[in-house]
Amino acid sequence: MSPDTESGTSFTSISPAEFFYRNKQMAGFGNPSQAVYSTVRELVENSLDACEDARRSPNVKVRISTDETSILTIAVSDNGVGLPYSEVPRAFGRVLYGSKYDRRQRRGTFGLGVTMAVLFGQITTDSPVIVHTQVDDNSGHKYHLLIDVEKNEPIVENEEVVMRNSIGTTVTIRLRGDLKRVQDRIVEYLRLTSAATPYARIEYQFNDESHVVLGPWALELPRPTHPCKPHPRAVDMELLRRLISDSKEINLRPFLITSFQQLGVKTASRFLSFLGLDAQTPIGEMSRKELSRLNHAMRRFDGFGRPESNCLSPIGEELFIQGIKSNFNTSYIKFGQHGVFEWEGNPVLLEGVLAIGDEFPSAEVPTLYRFANRVPLLYDASEDVLTKVLRRMNWARYGVSKPQPIAVFLNVSSTRIPYKAAGKQSIAHVTAIETGALSLLRSLGRSLNRAITTIGAAARDTRKRREYSEMIRIVAKYGSSLANHEIVPSTTPIIEKLFEVNPDDKE
Ligand SMILES: Nc1ncnc2c1ncn2[C@@H]1O[C@H](COP(=O)(O)OP(=O)(O)OP(=O)(O)O)[C@@H](O)[C@H]1O
Ligand SMILES: [Mg+2]
Repeated sequence: MSPDTESGTSFTSISPAEFFYRNKQMAGFGNPSQAVYSTVRELVENSLDACEDARRSPNVKVRISTDETSILTIAVSDNGVGLPYSEVPRAFGRVLYGSKYDRRQRRGTFGLGVTMAVLFGQITTDSPVIVHTQVDDNSGHKYHLLIDVEKNEPIVENEEVVMRNSIGTTVTIRLRGDLKRVQDRIVEYLRLTSAATPYARIEYQFNDESHVVLGPWALELPRPTHPCKPHPRAVDMELLRRLISDSKEINLRPFLITSFQQLGVKTASRFLSFLGLDAQTPIGEMSRKELSRLNHAMRRFDGFGRPESNCLSPIGEELFIQGIKSNFNTSYIKFGQHGVFEWEGNPVLLEGVLAIGDEFPSAEVPTLYRFANRVPLLYDASEDVLTKVLRRMNWARYGVSKPQPIAVFLNVSSTRIPYKAAGKQSIAHVTAIETGALSLLRSLGRSLNRAITTIGAAARDTRKRREYSEMIRIVAKYGSSLANHEIVPSTTPIIEKLFEVNPDDKE
């Protein structure tokens, strides 16, 4: 703490762990039921990331047990890459520490999720997190860890060499929470996770209830991602200074070509003449004014291509449809995609599936299921840009004139999802995403319109056919009795002919 000022006010700083300890709601740990949900979500998310890093079909097991004192034990295990043993204490015991800060699509973003769950467990039950991880066939480590909140440092209570059954990680957290209020939400989250991750086997069990297994419904994993260099339009002064200090190049031109994507030899020449600086300018000697000029020019120059998309890994048509069909009864299903487009130099791709099925709530506006990088978002729906766009649409124009059981599943893939808060529950109102989502929903809406027309015509056709059959059967019966025939002739050929030869009747 610094010395008191003349006014008597004292100044101090707090660690990131202390900040989130004081502002738990920002990270989705605001109350005991949300804390249970967020713990499961963060652990499952990390497990799926770890399995995909290993390019293995995920096998994730979730066990939740409670006692009368409302203390829960949540254990999630996976067959992922495991953690380098020396990194385990910091990964689980230091807020804002992680391995996912590079530029590629992952579920994890902030280096915060699991540490918040550890922190919540620690402050509500005084229990350490238990991390049991194994990275190869010959060793395994088990840690008992706590967080020194003031210093934002891990406290290792115990560390031992213990083999697991196989490579992967099991994380066990004890926390005080309210399972009853949130159990259905957890089931819904896991079901939607299975819909967006159909190549995963997800098993869950609450207390002594029998376990439930979802998937795998498909064998193939989505394509792997590669970290991308920054796009020139993503720069600001801070990033520019960092790139310059990290670069091995001395002069401006090679620095631009090696540090950025969409900046090859030809584009660099055009950009340098737009910028008006010498190609050989030594980057280490650039004045603040020159750096600022470079920064502005990068944002204004219109010759850079769209951000690369190989750092994205969308679900894809086949897997998304497979995942939804395996988890929901659907009578109609249609996939659409929009992008890749750009948000502040980051690539964004939108995928949508529109489905009709009697399991979905019947309404005049379709039920929206939101996903970000394949993670279902169940809270804060009203604040989300996707909800806003869906509500803005005039669904009557697309044939939804009365309540119908229609659902729209929307997945946003990006190297940077503009979450509204660290709890990663809703997406901010970014114009590019809003416009993209509107265009995707409109195209799904047009196909819905056609489907509703076809379904309506088929229903009318069936009704008409039933009525005609009945009338012709009565006429045949009456005719037979008038003619004193005991056997009533079959009316089926007439009906079939009638409906076949007269297509107008089918509408
Ligand atoms: N099951 C796991 N297998 C392998 N590594 C893991 C596992 N769980 C956590 N980690 C490691 O611990 C780090 C910290 O996890 P944490 O959930 O706090 O952050 P994150 O996943 O990077 O980002 P976010 O805050 O968005 O979740 C991860 O970046 C990852 O390297
Ligand atoms: Mg995480």
